[in-house]
Amino acid sequence: MDKIKIHGGKVLEGEIFISGAKNAALPLICASLLTDETVTLTNMPMLSDIKAMNNLLEQLGTKIDDFDDFADNHPAKTYSYRTKVATSLVAPYDYVRKMRASYYVLGPLLARYGKCELSLPGGCAIGARPMDIHLSALEQMGANIEIKNGYIHADAKGRLKGAHIIFPGVSVGATCNVLMAAVLAEGRTVLENAAKEPEIGDLANMLNAMGAKIEGIGTAVLTIDGVDKLYGTRHKVIADRIEAGSYAVAAAITRGKIELINALPSTLRRPLQVLKDMGVKVTETERGILVDAKNCKLVGKDIMTEPFPGFPTDLQAQFLALMLTADGAAMVTETIFENRFMHVPELLRMGANINVHGHASAIVRGVGKLSGAQVMATDLRASFALVLAGLVAEGETVVNRVYHLDRGYEKLEEKLRAVGADIQRIKEDDE
Ligand code: EPZ
Repeated sequence: MDKIKIHGGKVLEGEIFISGAKNAALPLICASLLTDETVTLTNMPMLSDIKAMNNLLEQLGTKIDDFDDFADNHPAKTYSYRTKVATSLVAPYDYVRKMRASYYVLGPLLARYGKCELSLPGGCAIGARPMDIHLSALEQMGANIEIKNGYIHADAKGRLKGAHIIFPGVSVGATCNVLMAAVLAEGRTVLENAAKEPEIGDLANMLNAMGAKIEGIGTAVLTIDGVDKLYGTRHKVIADRIEAGSYAVAAAITRGKIELINALPSTLRRPLQVLKDMGVKVTETERGILVDAKNCKLVGKDIMTEPFPGFPTDLQAQFLALMLTADGAAMVTETIFENRFMHVPELLRMGANINVHGHASAIVRGVGKLSGAQVMATDLRASFALVLAGLVAEGETVVNRVYHLDRGYEKLEEKLRAVGADIQRIKEDDE
């Protein structure tokens, strides 16, 4: 398995181009199942999760073409998806096991074909992550749902029916899945307590461009008037706010200065405010966001994860690592997932001072220095937090299980090297 080797201590300076958002691209790919015409997605990140989703769609009968392209003068992929007719309505265990977001085929297949079988995803490294909110909403729209042999068998016996759904909890996945189901349902669907993450706005905008009728985009109440047919479209995936936030922390933790090209400030208000409160200079530029921590003395600030527009859980691990290099103590509270401090034991091995209380909070105390070590993380964002710690640690840090990073950070080493990091990938074959 590949590893990442970092020699810490470099001050990062320069610019980093922010890729298209993984968590927007995944539901957008599945939305292409809603039409027999071609959906073309530009500014697609080259990530293993995208490849995994493409493999699943191919097995459902989608024809996919890919082109090397440019987005704002930077190389990016364009993919076109055409599902004339789905040849299978089953998302098998092996696909869902590798990537939970495979569950995004459920809403579209049920809407277009009235049927879908999906392997029920189990828990994962960050929590139990059930699908009850998705399934109950689809039942309210007339689907009959049975769980048998580890599979969800969903059958709408024809077309789904619009319904007034009040989600019992805020869920990004359930909002996307039910939104994709509702666009082809009969009549009006109202989704209350919908998640407001920017990736959902991106999905809703593309669905409208395909002919859907969605109102309330960006708010907690989405009103969808079902249509009989959707059409092809060409859509540019929004910039990845979590990638941008992660590199903002890379600038801050090394007391460097990085301009995040194409980053969207409106999607990052809360984390950028935390950086400012800590003492980092953050400015919106014509091309994105400039994060300048040169000669800055940072102070620890409390953070608490919440659904958008609150502080994102997907930046919790990175900011926790940053707090280790600030003065004073900070309380980090995780309210979204019940097991998202798995990076802490690894950071302790690098000399961190962190006390975790139960599953929900951690007190992080600034330490004078971290020291390089062999580390490994159990999920994508936690792995990035270890890379960040490695960037400031004395000596060499080796981050194992790099496949986590490859799921969500496009050209990670290349981007960090371009701003001055001493980082390289050790291929399995090189060992
Ligand atoms: C999405 O996961 C993201 N994944 C996650 O990104 C992100 O951490 C999360 O939203 C929160 O922002 C994708 O977009 C592919 P949820 P999702 O449904 O949709 C509970 C990353 O690193 N819940 O909003 O699965 C759930 O257990 C990742 O890129 C139920 O109880 O998250 C959690 O506690 C990891 N029942 C909370 O809701 C349900 O039916 C929020 O989960 C659904 C969710």
